[in-house]
Amino acid sequence: MSNLYLVGFMGAGKTAAGRVVARRMGRDFVDLDDAVERQLRLSIREIFESLGEGPFRQAETAELGKTAMMSDLVVATGGGVFSDPGNRSLIEEAEAVSVFLDPPWEAICSRLDEKDRARPNWIDDRQARALFVKRRPDYLLADIHLELTGAETPVDVADMVRSVLAEMQCDT
Ligand code: S3P
Repeated sequence: MSNLYLVGFMGAGKTAAGRVVARRMGRDFVDLDDAVERQLRLSIREIFESLGEGPFRQAETAELGKTAMMSDLVVATGGGVFSDPGNRSLIEEAEAVSVFLDPPWEAICSRLDEKDRARPNWIDDRQARALFVKRRPDYLLADIHLELTGAETPVDVADMVRSVLAEMQCDT
């Protein structure tokens, strides 16, 4: 079966929901940030600090490409993945399904504590909000748009993902 890619902004809950979706569907789970960290043997922060964002994006695309060669995966992408047209093409050409997890900005902000906000591309809330607004049109290109309140648990989100997928299968 084709892969499932969860896309959306930092703090949207892609990793937590992805793990549950994978478990429930009996699929393997890949967190793309973890895959990049393993490949480069550095943390995301170290990659940004010592190599810069360019090499991070190259490694991210390389890892995404590896997943696109496989099937039956649930993949949680980093927040920047779906803003790259080449990455979107990789996903599209793999005939995978992309799902945009879309909680409101306020929910993202209240969910992320100070440690979580220490992501390299979350400099402060003002800059992060501008990035969120800029990237949203890209996320909306995903096959499925899951509007969330932000109050859902990862299990709730996983249930929603699975029921939309089931509806899609009925429609085809
Ligand atoms: C990034 C999001 C992060 C990670 C890196 C860059 C971004 O992933 O890939 O820090 O530019 O939005 P999460 O969305 O899992 O936090």
